[in-house]
Amino acid sequence: MSTSELETHAYDVVVIGAGGAGLRAAIASHESGARTAIVCKSLLGKAHTVMAEGGIAAAMGNVWPDDNWRVHFRDTMRGGKMLNHWRMAQLHAQEAPDRVLELEEWGALFDRTKDGLISQRDFGGHRYARLAHVGDRTGLEMIRTLQQRAVALGIDVFMECTVTKLLKDVDRIAGAFGYWRDSGRFVMFEAPAVVLATGGIGKSYRVTSNSWEYTGDGHALALDAGASLVNMEFVQFHPTGMVWPPSVRGILVTESVRGDGGVLRNSEGKRFMFDYIPEFFKGETADSEAEADRWYEDKKNNRRPPELLPRDEVARAINSEIKAGRGSPHDGIFLDIASRRDAAFIQRRLPSMYHQFKELADVDITAEAMEIGPTCHYVMGGVEVDPDTGVSVVPGLYAAGEVAGGMHGSNRLGGNSLSDLLVFGRRAGLHAGYFAYRHRRRPVRVHQQQVNAAAEAAVAPFAQDGGENPYTLQRELQEVMQELVGIIRTEDELTESLRKLADLRRRAGELSVEGHRQYNPGWHLALDLPNMLTVSECIAMAALERTESRGGHTREDFPGTDESWGGINLILTNDAGGELSLQRQDLPRMPDELHELFEVK
Ligand code: FUM
Repeated sequence: MSTSELETHAYDVVVIGAGGAGLRAAIASHESGARTAIVCKSLLGKAHTVMAEGGIAAAMGNVWPDDNWRVHFRDTMRGGKMLNHWRMAQLHAQEAPDRVLELEEWGALFDRTKDGLISQRDFGGHRYARLAHVGDRTGLEMIRTLQQRAVALGIDVFMECTVTKLLKDVDRIAGAFGYWRDSGRFVMFEAPAVVLATGGIGKSYRVTSNSWEYTGDGHALALDAGASLVNMEFVQFHPTGMVWPPSVRGILVTESVRGDGGVLRNSEGKRFMFDYIPEFFKGETADSEAEADRWYEDKKNNRRPPELLPRDEVARAINSEIKAGRGSPHDGIFLDIASRRDAAFIQRRLPSMYHQFKELADVDITAEAMEIGPTCHYVMGGVEVDPDTGVSVVPGLYAAGEVAGGMHGSNRLGGNSLSDLLVFGRRAGLHAGYFAYRHRRRPVRVHQQQVNAAAEAAVAPFAQDGGENPYTLQRELQEVMQELVGIIRTEDELTESLRKLADLRRRAGELSVEGHRQYNPGWHLALDLPNMLTVSECIAMAALERTESRGGHTREDFPGTDESWGGINLILTNDAGGELSLQRQDLPRMPDELHELFEVK
């Protein structure tokens, strides 16, 4: 294919992804003076961020004057079991309040307290109620606001366009190659700076809260371009996803239900979380129902209910109850807010949950308990980036949001994702803009050979007759990840998963698709599958290597947290032969003045 036949665009900065991180990055890049484009797989306004419900974690210090960035930083680090990159956690806690206020300035309508302050909601692992929210539809309001701003600034948006390859000029980024989902035609973006904001990997699992775009594209594109991934073994299973009917299994049931008073019960009606309070959180967690209930009345002088422990703890507890035969009829557990809050409160605070259960499961959550169970929700691992700028080890390649690693350590606290998108989206966009400016006298050169190779790889599944069906492969991949690399892992199962993934990888080389390039979802899946396989291999390899349990990585054969692993990150790269390679790397050292924060009770 000659470049004259190819639709080509040139920008200073190309942002891949139009969720919270992508939109915020594009706004910052545009405001730095860079010619900026957004390229997204879905339609504008439909990114997975709209599914984020509970709120944006930010120590506003309004409802709780004792709250501040130091407390938020400490909570975040403790929630991540101290494996977070300290500098990312610091910047995040320091800058989140400004990002919330800026959203408000741009038109976001947050819920208010009766005194007119931005309402702050309780979530697990946060010492104070600190989630700024819009009912239980916060992500939707965030996207609406950012999108309106991006459109008003005149930023170019290429919708329903999937990137399959990052292009390089020797060792630096030169742009991206992809295809239009409707016509199947190829398109190339030349740019000295690319920001990855592609979200997560949840579609590698059978039960997930993630939407269809979450196929690990950015993780795989980055690896292929020479970047490194950090801590891919840590996958968050949100404790509460829908379990029934089967067609909606995995859909998120917001943590706000527990933040607003909902409790978890097993088939015997027991509020079982009291049996699962880990040593680490004992001092601050109520150990009786009476004390836990008093907390809702007086949050200052009582300890928090165990339902609000960090997500890894709650998901493991639910898993154990189900395994012990105390689950609900459809292999879940009960989440009950009906018996604890009146109908008007539930409908006001949790309108989406009310409608979701009524319409999808015919359950009235103001009158009966919900059946819920863990669902794959978030990957803590991602592209290794510089905390301040979001740049990866590849000059010109930036990453922000879920596709970037380090910020959340081994487990993310609820609400810290929306704030992460805003804080690091802005930083990555700004620095990508500066990078493009600094390199304005050295324009990138895209080599024809790379473009040809990318085009040939993309159409290869059409050339194969009678090969593997992409849907069959996807189903088998999700089964492997769900059953062998799920919440609880063992050496035998992980070894088995790697063997099966290698076999799936071999078969993925023999995929065939029928029809032509217009509107062909089978072809789209065939192009997503190698990315899903890559992130799955990364997760399984790192999970096998880390012989301890920590956050979103639980090894049945190594059940305790092992301090000798406490300072170690696992880094994945592609070696010269294109094979995955895993190394241990010391965690960056936290400065003393931040260390001291952990001595405070
Ligand atoms: O439960 C929730 O509303 C999810 C929020 C989050 O993942 O941050």
